[in-house]
Parts: sequence; structure tokens; C-alpha cells
Amino acid sequence: MARVVPATPETIGEAARILRRGGLVAFPTETVYGLGANALDPVAVARVFEVKRRPAFDPLIVHVCDRTMLEEVVLEIPPLAQVLIRRFWPGPLTLVLRRRPKLPGIVTAGLDTVAVREPSHPVALELIRCAETPVAAPSANPFGRLSPTRAEHVARHLGEEVDLILDAGPTPHGIESTIVSVLGETPQVLRVGAVPVEELEAVLGPVEVATSARRPQAPGQLPSHYAPRTHLSVARAEEVPVSARPRSAYLAFQRPPEDGFAAVRVLSPRGDLREAAARLFDLLHELDGLGLERIYAEPVPETGLGRAIMDRLRRASAAEG
Ligand code: TXA
Ligand code: MG
Repeated sequence: MARVVPATPETIGEAARILRRGGLVAFPTETVYGLGANALDPVAVARVFEVKRRPAFDPLIVHVCDRTMLEEVVLEIPPLAQVLIRRFWPGPLTLVLRRRPKLPGIVTAGLDTVAVREPSHPVALELIRCAETPVAAPSANPFGRLSPTRAEHVARHLGEEVDLILDAGPTPHGIESTIVSVLGETPQVLRVGAVPVEELEAVLGPVEVATSARRPQAPGQLPSHYAPRTHLSVARAEEVPVSARPRSAYLAFQRPPEDGFAAVRVLSPRGDLREAAARLFDLLHELDGLGLERIYAEPVPETGLGRAIMDRLRRASAAEG
């Protein structure tokens, strides 16, 4: 079992040494926990794919801690990217930019672009700073499954194979970064996430939002992703047959349903989409752990972060055979 340690200057220093030696460290970001490897070490990065059982066509996000490190991995920073960086970094926005050849091909799955972001979580930033190297890190979950918002999620699902897990409690956003490409004519959102589309449009004007693709640029775009082991359906409580309720869990947005469900969780009693996003994966992990027949999730309003929440719920529900 991997060691789970509270993130302190000492343990972050140890984690940085592990990264430099080619090891794997799970660490908190403001979105979800990441499974990090030295982005410049192809063997370490290969282990990330192995541990996550991630298909090699699915490129990783490279995490940097400053502009100098960014310029180590990308060829150029186009004007629109600079605007986004000034507005949203450090923070939960990932940019797709042209990569430098020195970045190992395995990181980008052979693409000539790289997805990069500067996280705002102090532990993530300090880890990258101490390691003095860009850190390639997908979410620290088995491929296609629920993303981890707590160190214990990582320990439970990947524990055996990670060298160290830095624990800094639940992640503040609880949902992955928004991925944007400004390389084409119109800015394109490749994955909706913790930065709402509206906030991007306030800076960029209209953007295109890529919907699920059969041949995805971002496998976050695969129709089935982010799935619990328990079958999940998006439905309002009243649509769920009464006879099915005793074997089902219900994930409500704001108000719990009358009754009849074996387990009920509420995303945000205040009806706050930010709080709902932050709790989404956490509560899904909990409900998934109950071993019930099915999880029903109530739809949430599709504005702001509601869009990312519904995106994750739809993909989770598409996992059904
Ligand atoms: O919030 C996050 O982004 C978290 C934390 C750990 O930073 N990371 C994360 O990584 O969600 P991951 O690997 O689960 O999702 C990364 C997504 C994938 O869907 C991948 O296809 C896309 O980023 N991606 C990576 N490189 C890309 C590229 N060059 N072009 C388009 N999409 C890319
Ligand atoms: Mg992921």
C-alpha cells in the first residue's frame, strides 16, 4: 500500500525527490488529485499509463509552476493564450499549445500539441517548484472511472502502485479543469470543467464547445467516462419506479426526494452549483461504495458549473452496456 502522508514542507520535499528519481506521486490540485510523474522522464510517464490502465492514445496534462517552465514545454504562446493565462492562471484552466520536441512523445500521445496548466493549489505548486521539473499528471483514478477528490480515493483505487500520496484534504473545485484550444480560428472548449464557459466568453467572446466525439481530441470527450462501478442514470426522483427505489441510491441536487430510496445524498442544499460541483465525485464515490443496483442522479441547471456537472453525469451514465 502506498504511504498516505499529510502534505507538509518535509513530505512535499520527499515527494519532489521521488519525482526526480522517476517515481509516481499523487498530489492535490484545486480540481482533483493528480497522479504525477516527471514530464521529461518517458519511463516514469509510461508508468502513469500502466498504473491508470490508460490507453496510450490519451495524452496527459503537463503541470508547470511558472512562465519559465511553461516555455520549456511549449514552442510559443499565442496572444489569446496569453490573455487566458493572465486571467485564469494559476487556476483550473488547461491550454492546448504547440509542444517543444524535447517533451517525450508519450506525454502527448504523439500529438504535436501539449495540454498545460499552472495549478493554484499551494501543495501542487510547491511540489512542482521543489521538483524543478514539469509534472505530467492525469487525474489519479483508474481510466474511465470517477475522479478522486480525496487522498483516500486514490489510496483505495490506485494505492498499491503509487509511491507516495500527499494528503491535503478534499479538493476545492472537485471537478477537472476546463480544457481550451486557441490554436484554431475560433477558441474551442475541448472539455467543460471548473472554469465555466460563461467566464471564458467574457474574455474571449463566443467559443465553440466540443461535444462528445467518436474520435476524440480529448478522451474526456469519450461518451463513456468518469463512471462509478454502479450503473448510473440521470433521472428525477419521480421518474424512478417505486419498486426500484429500495435497491437504488439517489443523488439529489438541492432537496432530498420524499422517500423510498436505499440511500440519498444532496449535492447542495443551498442550490449552489459551485458547491454541487465540489461535492459531485465525492458523493458518487460514497454511493458507489454502497454496492446498490443503480444510482439515479437528478439533473442540475445547465448554467455555469452546472454544465460541467451534467457533462460528467451524462458520461457516467453512458458507461452502461
Ligand atoms: O483538473 C485537471 O485537469 C486534472 C488535474 C490533475 O490537473 N487532470 C486531469 O487529467 O483531468 P486527465 O488526464 O484526467 O484529463 C486530461 C485530458 C484528457 O481528456 C486528454 O485527452 C486531454 O486532457 N488532453 C491532453 N493533451 C491534449 C492535447 N494535446 N490536445 C487535446 N486534449 C488533450
Ligand atoms: Mg481523468
